Amino acid sequence: MSGTVQPHRFWSRRGYDSAGIATISGGKICAEKDVGKLDQVCGKHDLDGLPGNIGIGHVRWATHGDVTQVNAHPHFDCKRQIAVVHNGIVENYQELRTRLESNHLFVSQTDTEVIPHLIEDYMDAGASLEEAVLKASKQLKGCYAFAAVSVKEPDKIVATRRESPLVVGANTHRSFIASDALAFLEETNRVVFLEDGEMVILGKNITFLDKDGKPVIREFKEVDWKWDQATKQGYDFYMLKEIMEEPQAIKQATMQDKRLLLEMAIGILRSKQVVITACGTSRYAALVGRYLFSRLAGQFCDVIMGSEFQYFSDSIDKNTLVIAVSQSGETADVIQGVKRAKENGATIYSLVNTVGSSLARMSDRVLYLNCGPEIGVAATKTFVSQLALFYLLSFTMANKLDDGLEQLLDVCPKIERGFGKNSKKLQGLAQQTRDKHDFYYIARGINFAIAAEGALKMKEISYVHAEGMPAGELKHGTLALIEKNTPVVVICPKDYTYEETIANAHETKARGAFVIGVSEEMNPIFDEWIEIPEVDEVFQPLVTVVPLQLLAYYSALARGRDPDKPRNLAKSVTVK
Ligand code: F6R
Repeated sequence: MSGTVQPHRFWSRRGYDSAGIATISGGKICAEKDVGKLDQVCGKHDLDGLPGNIGIGHVRWATHGDVTQVNAHPHFDCKRQIAVVHNGIVENYQELRTRLESNHLFVSQTDTEVIPHLIEDYMDAGASLEEAVLKASKQLKGCYAFAAVSVKEPDKIVATRRESPLVVGANTHRSFIASDALAFLEETNRVVFLEDGEMVILGKNITFLDKDGKPVIREFKEVDWKWDQATKQGYDFYMLKEIMEEPQAIKQATMQDKRLLLEMAIGILRSKQVVITACGTSRYAALVGRYLFSRLAGQFCDVIMGSEFQYFSDSIDKNTLVIAVSQSGETADVIQGVKRAKENGATIYSLVNTVGSSLARMSDRVLYLNCGPEIGVAATKTFVSQLALFYLLSFTMANKLDDGLEQLLDVCPKIERGFGKNSKKLQGLAQQTRDKHDFYYIARGINFAIAAEGALKMKEISYVHAEGMPAGELKHGTLALIEKNTPVVVICPKDYTYEETIANAHETKARGAFVIGVSEEMNPIFDEWIEIPEVDEVFQPLVTVVPLQLLAYYSALARGRDPDKPRNLAKSVTVK
């Protein structure tokens, strides 16, 4: 950094229901904000054209307050001299707002707006911007990462965090703060991940302060993601690009330190109890992992969803090994549960994609997915990479790593061949079922988790009701919902579960179901057949999940949805 005033930016890229920017120029705050995805807001307002060398921006994913222009960030103090953008939830905002309302004017319904007003009070009493930010942050309960600018100190951005992620980046002429390194990867891959309670001042220099406001030295490190990995490279959507990258992602996930794998495998085998915790798609990867641990290494473990895990803390102790699975490494529910488990003395292993993420930093051992950035909000390549790590761990636990690796790599070209084979049929199927409002996915054994994942993908990007369940569970209630032409996706590779799963498919057919079979072989009961290659039973999830991801993708397109930005879902869910 040179001694002149440098352009600095804060950018949060975790949401997309509204967006806004504030810069400082000519002694005042210049700002634009509006409802819509970033490109829509940019279409309406000249965000790039705002003057100044300092700027903070935000894309919102509403938690408190409707999706309206006034609720979009940045938020301001009464005199519009301070602007703030914020990720997270201020849990005590109501109490703070009630206290501040007697002499402050609030215009939005958000929890965030208390922050600029708190800063305003401290600055009016003579505090510098960083002192005011520190004091204001001490008043907040909940999780936050926020950045503030003030016209009184127009050459700096001050930011701090608790529980929500914040990363600082710098190249020779600019510095950045963001919720995710991807936000500025085009400019630099040199980063510092801020710790809880720390503060950063981007000014002529970059200064880090600890939770008491004392300067601390933080070293910049390089993240190994490249900007071109985060571009569409000719595909219409990131989701399709990332599905196509899956064979490569599996190969990259296998590049692990064998000693670390062995240490972790021994840790798992020696633990009195092993619990895997995760949310959403990562939890379905964990369910496959549980099956692999049992089938390949005779190790039983439980899988508990992140948001429920903390409620089991009575039975988590120093004899527990927790394996947390999260592509982002920032999912608040997972982090909360892991924190509790750590307090109880548990050992923490994690499987994450984002190097330096909060979860990685709080874990005793970490395996990275190594699949590069995943931009599509719906998880696809990170799912198969998580499966790959579970294969590596399970085969190491069974003392058969080399053999397992060879078999795993053999599956990759089979996945690749499947793309060409099924793509037309899946597009047709998506068109054929585009007016359907309910989908059911059934499977047994290792593929049950794939039924659940197939349904989740359909639900999150096509906005239709979809349920995945063990095929045997169907008759305990859900059969009542099967009507004429209800699509039922039956995942039934030709293993020891085949006959029973087909019998369950017959039960749905008897009620009029439109049966979509996912199998190596056609069966007369299928109305449509999605062919999968023959692989050993334990590897089936890798070949059954891909056509279901594609079916969800084509269904989203057939229904006019944007598969990369499904409504009401964020790439990193950093709120509880
Ligand atoms: C599914 C999806 C979500 C995530 C979940 C966990 O496509 O995107 O269900 O899987 O929010 O996210 P991570 O893996 O980052 O913890």
